[in-house]
Amino acid sequence: MASNWTSDSWRGAEARHLPVYPDAAKLADVEQTLSNYPPLVFAGEARALKDDLAQVAAGKGFLLQGGDCAESFAEFHPNNIRDTFRVLLQMAVVLTFASKQPVVKVGRMAGQFAKPRSSPVEVQDGVELPSYLGDNINGMEFTPASRIPDPERMVKAYSQAASTLNLLRAFAGGGYANLRQVHQWTLDHIGRSPWAAKFSEMADRIGEALDFMEACGVDPRTVPQLQGTSFYTSHEALLLPYEQAMTRQDSLTGGWYDCSAHMLWIGDRTRFEGSAHVEYLRGVGNPIGMKCGPSLTPDALLKLLDTLNPGREAGRMTLISRFGDDKVEAGLTPLVRAVKREGHPVVWSCDPMHGNVIKANSGYKTRPFDRILGEVKGFFAVHRAEGTHAGGIHIEMTGQDVTECVGGAVAITHEALADRYHTHCDPRLNAAQSIELAFLLAEMLNLERAAGKKSEAA
Ligand code: PEP
Ligand code: CO
Repeated sequence: MASNWTSDSWRGAEARHLPVYPDAAKLADVEQTLSNYPPLVFAGEARALKDDLAQVAAGKGFLLQGGDCAESFAEFHPNNIRDTFRVLLQMAVVLTFASKQPVVKVGRMAGQFAKPRSSPVEVQDGVELPSYLGDNINGMEFTPASRIPDPERMVKAYSQAASTLNLLRAFAGGGYANLRQVHQWTLDHIGRSPWAAKFSEMADRIGEALDFMEACGVDPRTVPQLQGTSFYTSHEALLLPYEQAMTRQDSLTGGWYDCSAHMLWIGDRTRFEGSAHVEYLRGVGNPIGMKCGPSLTPDALLKLLDTLNPGREAGRMTLISRFGDDKVEAGLTPLVRAVKREGHPVVWSCDPMHGNVIKANSGYKTRPFDRILGEVKGFFAVHRAEGTHAGGIHIEMTGQDVTECVGGAVAITHEALADRYHTHCDPRLNAAQSIELAFLLAEMLNLERAAGKKSEAA
């Protein structure tokens, strides 16, 4: 267990991006309430995810992590949960089918509310208000009252996370994710995308493979891996009073876990040395992600790895690079080299979203699909050159037909951004763009596999 750590030791460290609650007594009440609520996940599940990620770190699997930039109270609806879950499943099937590797599925879902913002204030028509920080902290509405941090919002976020997780568990284990259903996972919201036909073709081939197995005497109904799937949840562990209140001691091992999600990550703005967020996460046993952007030096990264994973446990750390398509090769290479040299077992995952935001002339924040793809290609190129495994992808996406990122095969134009721009924070890939990205990723994973086979044969 981490030394000198308690679930509140972060309070003695420098905390950035935390709200200041005007009503301290109300905050203490809410923290007390939440600490008596049932945990949302069980420590054993977090350990199972860590085992799966250890396989990925060893080059035997791929991590698919995706969902909203920010979940919201307004968009809370079973259809939205189902559609995002379904697109993640479809992406996972595409990736598994092409790469012949297991795909570990982790949603940015059931708890992804709090947001670090580049500016603490927002100005509209000459009026300045505190920025929106996520639905578990304050409201998006541009009024002074709505922007006041309200601790009660944490209770509502807990309740939304609990019911979202309940539905996800039902879908994952109750038959919806059965591979026999691959044809029934409709391609709603992917419209005229040429990738819809490719998906149906692949679904036919999977159906044939299942028929073949059945004819050979393997009854897919008795194979648990074909019946359902493992699906995990994650969010940025930004709002530490909430995370602390959800911290529990595991009765089986005595270890401490953040039971608000299976996996938690530290954002690019809160991963500095001495950070309260690092202090909190070093003591919980969950698998941890950490965003790695242009300001991170190899030395700082190694120190953070020593703090967060002193025992060098495989599956504990996922490093999520987010440089921008023009910076990824130069920026990621020294980090990969340092981590490899020091022998830290990590999953390298690519977030091609946060380094590729541009402001369209219309004023909308967007991300061009080509730049997203460019960063993924650069990420694969670095790992190919360094002989390391390109282990995962971390994306902001939705199962809905939104118009937030420009480009893709069904080209979303700059003019179309206003049509269905619904995100509460950053622009997300829509269903068609997500599936398209999965097919393009599958090609890259295939190349990686072919290169690996060649070097084994040499
Ligand atoms: C995010 O993932 O939503 C985010 C804020 O990312 P980053 O910390 O990499 O900027
Ligand atoms: Co974001």
